[in-house]
Amino acid sequence: MELDDTVQEIAAAPSPDALEAIRIKVLGRRGSLTLAMRELAALDPDERRRVGAELNTVKERLTAALAEATVRLGRAELAERLAGERADVTLPVAFSGTGRIHPISQTIDEIVAIFGEMGFAVAEGPHIEEDFYNFTALNIPPEHPARQEHDTFYLPGRPDGTRLVLRTHTSPVQVRTMLAQQPPIRIIVPGRTFRCDHDATHSPMFHQVEGLVIDRTSHMGHLKGCLIEFCRAFFGLDDLPVRFRPSYFPFTEPSAEVDIGCSRKGGELKIGAGGDWLEILGSGMVHPQVLKNCGIDPAEYQGFAFGMGIERIAMLKYGIPDLRTFYESDLRWLRHYGFLPLDVPSLVRGSLS
Ligand code: PHE
Repeated sequence: MELDDTVQEIAAAPSPDALEAIRIKVLGRRGSLTLAMRELAALDPDERRRVGAELNTVKERLTAALAEATVRLGRAELAERLAGERADVTLPVAFSGTGRIHPISQTIDEIVAIFGEMGFAVAEGPHIEEDFYNFTALNIPPEHPARQEHDTFYLPGRPDGTRLVLRTHTSPVQVRTMLAQQPPIRIIVPGRTFRCDHDATHSPMFHQVEGLVIDRTSHMGHLKGCLIEFCRAFFGLDDLPVRFRPSYFPFTEPSAEVDIGCSRKGGELKIGAGGDWLEILGSGMVHPQVLKNCGIDPAEYQGFAFGMGIERIAMLKYGIPDLRTFYESDLRWLRHYGFLPLDVPSLVRGSLS
């Protein structure tokens, strides 16, 4: 009877401490069972064997009950801890630091948003280019002085004597596009370009964006309208003065460089004000020879092209003084000049300023 009570008590023990207290009370040094075992010695042999066997059965039952209770309480404790430590997914996220969009990426996105509104598609091409696409097809034959001006990085010569180049401008993608598709063509080409040049305003790797429009009727007036519109949208100034200055490129005729109005009073550059000019891009009507080189009949089709340095216009828009800092991967610089990941440029949202 007493044994059944104890077994029940064990099964109902509410905690490991309570269980331990029961164990001590029965099996401890002065526990009831321990004392009963000790008293066996005083009994005569027959009696000792009978009572001894009984006490052993009792001890086995108690030990089994205690082991079972230990497992039960362990499980309960674990379940309680799991319930208490459950993650609350409704809590707000703790920001430990937000990444930033590099000004080059942001500027490319802005340019793509503006030209995207005008119906341009984005095209891309390889950084390692064949001489034909980078120069020859663009009306820059082997001995042409423009090849020197481009300060080209050449790769080691190939068995057939030709050398691959790191493209010196994004213009080879004009050629690739015209060879691959018939007009009408309306593309912009943002991407990396390479020239052997290094100082505060030149880096051996830099970015350009190329533009190409080919159809039956696009003329110099469209070129001007398109680029004036771009400059004003990009710098966020509706009345930004834009000037076209005659120039020369082997792959365009006529050619024009595009300047925007600025002031340099007191050594401080201010865009959109004053009587000074700042060159920001090159442009022109695609040379008939380039169209021919790309399998397009110049009697039927015509169009214009333009190209500009992305670092240069990013520096002007965001007041970044040194070109080299773009590539130093300095986190403090990126935190200062970088953009929030969700600040996606679009003309509609007007977040281009
Ligand atoms: N490719 C020229 C450069 O790198 C820029 C340009 C492109 C000029 C297209 C005219 C037309 O300087």
